[in-house]
Amino acid sequence: MQKTHTHGQWTSRMGFVLAATGSAVGLGNIWKFPYMIGQSGGAAFVLVYLLCIALIGLPILVAEWMIGRRGQKNPISTMGELAKKNGRSGAWALIGFTGVLGAFLILSFYSVIGGWALSYTGDAITGGFTGMDKDAVGNAFTGFLANAGSLLTWHTVFMALTVGVVAMGVAGGLERASKLLMPSLGVLLFILVGYGMTTGGFGQAMAYLFNPDWSKLTGDVVLAALGHAFFTLSLGMGIMMAYGSYLGEDVDLLRTARTVVIMDTVIAIAAGLAIFPIVFANGLDPAAGPGLIFVTLPIAFGNITGGVILGTLFFVLLTFAALTSAISLLEPVVELVEERTPLSRAGATFVAGIATWALGIAALLSFNHWSDVTIIGLNIFDLLDQLTSKFMLPLTGLGAILFAAWCLDRDSVRKELGLGELGFSVWNVVARFVAPVGVLIVFVSNL
Ligand code: PHE
Ligand code: NA
Repeated sequence: MQKTHTHGQWTSRMGFVLAATGSAVGLGNIWKFPYMIGQSGGAAFVLVYLLCIALIGLPILVAEWMIGRRGQKNPISTMGELAKKNGRSGAWALIGFTGVLGAFLILSFYSVIGGWALSYTGDAITGGFTGMDKDAVGNAFTGFLANAGSLLTWHTVFMALTVGVVAMGVAGGLERASKLLMPSLGVLLFILVGYGMTTGGFGQAMAYLFNPDWSKLTGDVVLAALGHAFFTLSLGMGIMMAYGSYLGEDVDLLRTARTVVIMDTVIAIAAGLAIFPIVFANGLDPAAGPGLIFVTLPIAFGNITGGVILGTLFFVLLTFAALTSAISLLEPVVELVEERTPLSRAGATFVAGIATWALGIAALLSFNHWSDVTIIGLNIFDLLDQLTSKFMLPLTGLGAILFAAWCLDRDSVRKELGLGELGFSVWNVVARFVAPVGVLIVFVSNL
């Protein structure tokens, strides 16, 4: 196939897997997933989430890569041109556009939490958690949130790191580093799961995570699970589509998607298993919200041998995972600005960074000065989060799967997926009906 863009291609499947995993594994797994479980009441959410990942997330991941690999451009141009080539309306380009907007909105609050991780790295290094009990840990976090200046500082540092990496074009180096750092993060999480087993809260945590109380399953919980499946796999923003445009023809999409999805899911479940034993052993509130990991894990680091080193490592690795995801969020925004304005790459990165940073300030004020500023009953932070996860991502992802399943030429899709007769029928049923209908049902039932 003729390559029309200037950027190179991933020479190996490994490089691609690292980039895609770098985008997928992040705060969504370790910070967001556990607190959403707690707010949704436990196992019913977890099981619906796993279903959404398998039946909706995985096929949409494949669809985005497939579209990207064919279009060979940024998501907006790719969708527009591919649609025309296949005799459809250029209005499909809109999907690329809402994707970029979603990435911008997400990065604004994602960077705020990345800042929390940075700040806690500092606390861990200086032995700040040593000997702390749950009250001390809780008070420290409440004090941190109340201090807008400090949240702003760390948000600024995190955003500057993200902009720096994108501007200097060293994201590839970071991805190579993740070959070592990602597994280390996994190992640390399992050490924390081990700590959880010693707390006396482990049995209760297992039941909470895997033994469903179906009465907890409301329409809103299902929508939250669906939205989080998109968030955690970086879907519905054109990000995976953009990655697909770098993808060599020889890469097996289904197998690669399975690898990425499994890694993402294992890290998320491990985070849940690390955090909930601490919640129950200390009588903390599972529904504490976005602060959940920051009021639980420091208790572990404050009380195990080697806690200073483990805590430092953990927050460094968490920051790193957040950074690789943040970079993938900033890229599409930068590309759009670069393409539609006379700005250079560096200028576009700077402008996109500043705009995101500014919106992030509104998000961080939700935790203090603007805590009673609400729009449709949500503070700005929650509004940014819910607007993207519950609406924009699923709708954009729905567009991508509909396009891949209904608009692309069947024979070429089949060849691309390398499936036999039976496998392709299964793919067709899932991609044409199960995934889109699933998304639609969740939406309609919530109206
Ligand atoms: N998937 C990332 C995470 O789980 C977050 C993210 C969302 C990254 C959307 C890119 C796009 O942390
Ligand atoms: Na994720």
